[in-house]
Amino acid sequence: MGKVAFIGAGPGAADLITLRGARLLARADVVLHDALTDPALRELAPRAQWIHVGKRGFCDSTGQAAINALIVRHGREDGLVVRLKGGDPSVFGRLEEELQACAEAGLEVEVVPGVTAALAAAADTLRPLTRRGSGRSVSLTTAMTRTGDLHASRSADTEVFYMAGKQLGPLSRRLREAGWDPATPVSVVSRAGWPDQLHSDHTLDTLAQASLLHAGRPTVVVVGAGARAVDAARAPVASASAACREGIAPDQGLGQTLKP
Ligand SMILES: C[S@@+](CC[C@H](N)C(=O)[O-])C[C@H]1O[C@@H](n2cnc3c(N)ncnc32)[C@H](O)[C@@H]1O
Repeated sequence: MGKVAFIGAGPGAADLITLRGARLLARADVVLHDALTDPALRELAPRAQWIHVGKRGFCDSTGQAAINALIVRHGREDGLVVRLKGGDPSVFGRLEEELQACAEAGLEVEVVPGVTAALAAAADTLRPLTRRGSGRSVSLTTAMTRTGDLHASRSADTEVFYMAGKQLGPLSRRLREAGWDPATPVSVVSRAGWPDQLHSDHTLDTLAQASLLHAGRPTVVVVGAGARAVDAARAPVASASAACREGIAPDQGLGQTLKP
């Protein structure tokens, strides 16, 4: 009986995988991987058998059952099986079903976290998802329900929508109906973490205009506090972090050194 490691590959370039993930991948006998993972990751597991189980081939619930069966079969027959997933396995990655299948089969499992798309988008655009004073909460949301309806509300200061790239017009409408101001900033990022990442700025009112630019690319939509560009004029924030590095108490103002 083998072991199944669910590893987050990160959202883009191969070097965004964690060191722990890369080390496990190097020992893999079989790798079952998503469509979104970077082919360069193959170099990290050259002796493994690589099997593509990405969305294109397996997009419905039957597909998920087939993936579960493959994981279990290889988990029983092979040594170390890696289920390599784009971003983080716990975020919109059908991890629950796959863990359940492993539990039913009595397989040993491990989950290695990865950089989810929202975090890569924040990094690429230099837009922190939380902000002191204005952004105390973040939600990772998929607007699409199981039945294909679009569902959007106001649940956090920063809302990051996954799998909404084809629905930007309806998403904008739903969010305004849910009480968001039409002037709310929205940052749209596609292929975050890749060299060809694209980013555009909108308000909720003009969000639909992003559709053409990001068409056909994996896209996240950041709404609210975390979508705002960092204001260069808000120098005190920068001073405070510099103060922390220098060992100066930010609340006491610069120039006062902390006593050891
Ligand atoms: C099935 S979900 C998988 C999410 C993944 N587990 C994660 O943690 O990022 C696929 C959706 O994630 C988002 N996504 C994945 N990779 C992305 C990227 N590099 N840039 C922007 N969005 C991405 C898109 O919204 C895409 O439709």
